[in-house]
Amino acid sequence: MSLKQEIARRKTFGIISHPDAGKTTLTEKLLLFGGAIQTAGAVKSNKIKKTTVSDFMEIEKQRGISVATSVMAFEYKDLKINILDTPGHQDFAEDTYRTLTAVDSAIVVIDVAKGVETQTEKLVNVCRMRATPIIVFINKLDREGKDPIDLLDEVEQKLGLTVKPMSWPVGMGGTFKGVYSMYEKKLVLFRPHGKQAEEDVIEISDLADTELEKHVGERAAKTLREEVHMIEEVYPEFDVEAYQKGELSPVFFGSAVNNFGVRELLDCFTDIAPAPLPRPTEEREVAPTEEKFSGFIFKIHANIDPRHRARIAFLRICSGVFERNKNYLHVRQNQQMRFANPTSFMADKKEVIDEAYPGDVVGLHDTGNFKIGDTLTEGEELHFKGIPSFSPEQFRYVENADPMKSKQLAKGLDQLMDEGVAQLFTKESNGRKIIGTVGALQFDVIQYRLQHEYGASCMYEPVNLYKACWVTSKDPKAYKEFLSRRSRDLAKDKDGNTVFLAESAWALKMAQDNHPEVQFHFTSEMNGKG
Ligand code: G4P
Repeated sequence: MSLKQEIARRKTFGIISHPDAGKTTLTEKLLLFGGAIQTAGAVKSNKIKKTTVSDFMEIEKQRGISVATSVMAFEYKDLKINILDTPGHQDFAEDTYRTLTAVDSAIVVIDVAKGVETQTEKLVNVCRMRATPIIVFINKLDREGKDPIDLLDEVEQKLGLTVKPMSWPVGMGGTFKGVYSMYEKKLVLFRPHGKQAEEDVIEISDLADTELEKHVGERAAKTLREEVHMIEEVYPEFDVEAYQKGELSPVFFGSAVNNFGVRELLDCFTDIAPAPLPRPTEEREVAPTEEKFSGFIFKIHANIDPRHRARIAFLRICSGVFERNKNYLHVRQNQQMRFANPTSFMADKKEVIDEAYPGDVVGLHDTGNFKIGDTLTEGEELHFKGIPSFSPEQFRYVENADPMKSKQLAKGLDQLMDEGVAQLFTKESNGRKIIGTVGALQFDVIQYRLQHEYGASCMYEPVNLYKACWVTSKDPKAYKEFLSRRSRDLAKDKDGNTVFLAESAWALKMAQDNHPEVQFHFTSEMNGKG
């Protein structure tokens, strides 16, 4: 198969949701369709039910045994589908944000009863930053939930998406009879807890057909006709191009646990989801079809078992063919590297591969050379864009608790930051170090890992901060004045970029108002230039 054909048959995407909406269940059903797994229950939820470090460690141990769950690939209708898994716990949201930089599209799962939840909002915002095409799956229709029209309004308002329903539910909860697919002009009847049998799918090209009554009864048929008529008036025509530009999101309804509505979702996804797209670098745009290989590291997974300290760096291939044992340039370190055992992931299996194509993700054995955002190429100096570090939300001073182990602490912190576990800032006024994270659980995890992996111990002290944002300005004079007036609130991030530490939303607003020539950024590009 030619490189072009290999690229055209690849679809790399992520499933995102607020915890409990049904991401794990949907992933599993998709893998069942693809034949990648044979039994339900094979996909382990990476959800942490309690926010305790012991719980996290338990999950990490399981993941250490099977990091394969990070990427799940399967073949379906001659396509190679790569699902990039995202952590279920919101304290690990930053890991999810970064994984989203490696996908070409996303499926958002929403619980019909709960509607749009906070985590969904944050994750969709990240997708929108890169105009990632999104399909929405409204789940748990076997339970009572919100009115579908109200829910679509909520999706549009809270997520800022323009939606287009592609299927429509007939009833809900106790009266749930199935969905009518406007995309395929089919009525699919609901049978709880079973595979959809052929006879459950009825072709109804015209909803006026009295066939409809026979299957769902008079009342439901009337309601369906009215509702479909209305949504066809209200919502725009489906347009693949608009979807692929991230401007229009098709919506499906179903029940993942009952394997209902999942095939319709998958079939539409395989029809419309984009194959690997060109990607911007600081230097130029890189097309997947370019002969020369390039890719970037978007995730580093440490094996926390001290007896096997290796890390796996996850590389997203962006162009050309990646080959085993070939020399590549690690751009940031300006160093040649070759990989004897690159691995690919097929559901629950991990295997050494000889080649990988754009859209694929390979795992590289790493002894500490990589950090998130690093680029590998065949020699060209490229820096992929859009792999940002996000403004943290929780902060603490970190202090060395064992003066004999300061080297170990520095090394441990350095490596954990490269993995993207958290961000480290050094205050300009007094040189104190501040750790910033997206979730509170990370502080315990860092302390635990420093102790167990590096033999270092740290203490935390509270620091009253609301946000850390990166600052730049095109006006050198105004910038200089800002730096000198606000020196007390400035810090450097790990790469030496200047960061403004705001104590409150009000302090941030005041700084913005008083220094209109200064730009405050809530993400920083971590492009490996470091
Ligand atoms: P997540 O990965 O998004 O966090 O969610 P997950 O798939 O783990 O699903 C969360 C819960 O919702 C699970 O129940 C799951 O069985 C249930 N669920 C998923 N899809 C549907 C659906 O279509 N209808 C209904 N009624 N429930 C659904 P649980 O009790 O937390 O776990 P389990 O013991 O049932 O697995």
